[in-house]
Amino acid sequence: MSTEPKSKNITWSHSHVTAEERRALTGHGAVTVWFTGLSGSGKSTIATTVERQLVEHGRHAYVLDGDNIRQGLNSNLGFSPEDRTENIRRIGEVSKLFNDAGVIVLTAFISPYRADRDRVRETLPEGTFVEVLVDCPLEECEKRDVKGLYKKARAGEIPEFTGISAPFEEPEKPEIVLATAESSVDECAQQVLDYLLKTGVIPAQQ
Ligand code: ADX
Repeated sequence: MSTEPKSKNITWSHSHVTAEERRALTGHGAVTVWFTGLSGSGKSTIATTVERQLVEHGRHAYVLDGDNIRQGLNSNLGFSPEDRTENIRRIGEVSKLFNDAGVIVLTAFISPYRADRDRVRETLPEGTFVEVLVDCPLEECEKRDVKGLYKKARAGEIPEFTGISAPFEEPEKPEIVLATAESSVDECAQQVLDYLLKTGVIPAQQ
């Protein structure tokens, strides 16, 4: 799918505020922490836990969540491969804007296609895309079935359901792997926070 703008005769309008000035304002860097995994694997739970902890420590952080974004910005998209690609493309662009504004973004989208995630990585400045595989076996997600969707998918009531009748392509080299079937939510959230500390995105506590 082409990502070339449809419009002609457009030019880039430059901001008068630098990334360094924004960093001085917030006291931390701005990256996109991209959680990818099956429905029910724990993406939203961990993303919102990390968000809570960051905000409690005075960091600017914001979660973009699949189920929520699909009720607004992406309400015209379904679950065909093309629509999922467009879903992820838009979220990549939104993440880039939030990062530009100095916010740490935590995204919770299945984002099943490797090429879509790689495209987002290429869109963002080097080193600011942190891919997190929320690694939970399908059997476990299906056992949890928090939203009752796996049952419906097995019954043939939801077509193209990820893990059942649509693929999930695991990342080849994610920055972080969270074993959510074995570790607690707090342990997984801490793993993400440790990564942000280790890479200097957030400073160590004073
Ligand atoms: S993505 O594949 O395009 O990244 P996204 O994360 O936005 O998906 O939305 C996934 C959520 O939509 C799931 O958590 C689930 O609640 C719901 N959903 C509804 N239909 C499907 C489907 N066919 N496949 C996967 N998730 C679905």
